[in-house]
Amino acid sequence: MTSPSAPHALPASIDDTLALLRAGDYVAERSLATAVFLALRMRRPLFLEGEAGVGKTEIAKVLAATLGRELIRLQCYEGLDIASAVYEWNYPRQMVEIRLAEAAGGASREALAQDLFSERFLIRRPLLQALSGGVATPPVLLIDELDRTDEPFEAYLLEVLSDFQVTIPEIGTIKAVEPPIVVMTSNRTREIHDAVKRRCLYHWVDYPSAERELEILARKLPDAPQRLSREVVAFVQRLRGMDLFKAPGVAETIDWSRALVELDQIALDAEVVDNTLGALLKYQDDIARVRGSEAARILDDLRAKLGLA
Ligand SMILES: Nc1ncnc2c1ncn2[C@@H]1O[C@H](COP(=O)(O)OP(=O)(O)OP(=O)(O)O)[C@@H](O)[C@H]1O
Ligand SMILES: [Mg+2]
Repeated sequence: MTSPSAPHALPASIDDTLALLRAGDYVAERSLATAVFLALRMRRPLFLEGEAGVGKTEIAKVLAATLGRELIRLQCYEGLDIASAVYEWNYPRQMVEIRLAEAAGGASREALAQDLFSERFLIRRPLLQALSGGVATPPVLLIDELDRTDEPFEAYLLEVLSDFQVTIPEIGTIKAVEPPIVVMTSNRTREIHDAVKRRCLYHWVDYPSAERELEILARKLPDAPQRLSREVVAFVQRLRGMDLFKAPGVAETIDWSRALVELDQIALDAEVVDNTLGALLKYQDDIARVRGSEAARILDDLRAKLGLA
C-alpha cells in the first residue's frame, strides 16, 4: 500500500487521460486511454488482458500516483480465500481479550462475545480496505492476475463488484460510500467468467508500436543513446514477430536497454547481443534460436532499414 498525495480530479477527456498517464511516465495508445477514461467516467471496473510485461499492472500504479489515491493491491493466486482477500478475525487478540476478561471477572458472557466480534478485532484485507475509503478519494483497487484464482473466488468477487459491499455475519453489511477505482488484470492463462467481464470495460493491452516503445524508453531511460534505443526497439519488435515460446514484453525491452547502457554500448553489435540475450529472452529454446547467425541477420537487416551503417 502506498500513501496518497493530494487527490486530483478525474480526467475530463481522452486527451486529459493521455496526459495524466504520461505525467506518470506511462505511454498509452489512444484506445487504452479511451478505456481508462470511460472506466473512470462510468465508474466501471477496467479489465485488462494481455501478454506478460505489456504494462497492465503499471496502469493501476500510475493511476493511483497521478490521481493521488491510495493503491490497494490484491495479488491473486490459486487458493486465495476470503480470509486473505476480504477480512479475518484477529484470533490472537481475541484470545488475549478473553483471558483479560476472565482475570477481571465481572463482564457478562454476552457482552464479551459481542465485543470480540466488533470492528476492533477485525483485520481488513484488500477488498474490505478498498470499500472503506473516503467520499472524495476512493482508492485504486488493483486485482492483479485474476486468472490465477479459482472460480469460487471469482463468483465471490462478482458479488463484491456488483454492489461494492461485503457482508460480515457478526457485524453486518459494509458498503463503500464511493466505489473504488477498480483495475483487474489477467495474463489469460484461463478465460475469466463472462459474468465478471460483463461488469467491466475490457481492453486487450497489445505490444506498443515501435514509435511508442521508443517513447517509453526515452521516458524510462533518458540517458540511453538515441541510436542504441532505436536499434533495441527494432530488434525487439522483430523478435515479437518470430513466434518464440515467450516473446519479450516492454519490461524486457527496458531491462535489456538498461543492461546495454550499463555496458556502455552506444549501438548493438552481434557479440553483445549474444551475450545479453538473457535480459530479453527467458527460455533456453528461444535463446538458442536467436543467438548467433539469426541475431546477426536481424541486426544487418534492421541496420539497413534504419539507415544505420
Ligand atoms: N506503455 C508503457 N509506458 C511506460 N512503461 C511501460 C509501459 N508498458 C510497460 N511499461 C513498463 O514495463 C514494466 C512492466 O509492466 P507491468 O508490470 O505493468 O506489466 P504487466 O503487463 O503487468 O506484466 P505481467 O503480466 O508479467 O504482470 C513496468 O516497469 C512498466 O513501467
Ligand atoms: Mg502484472
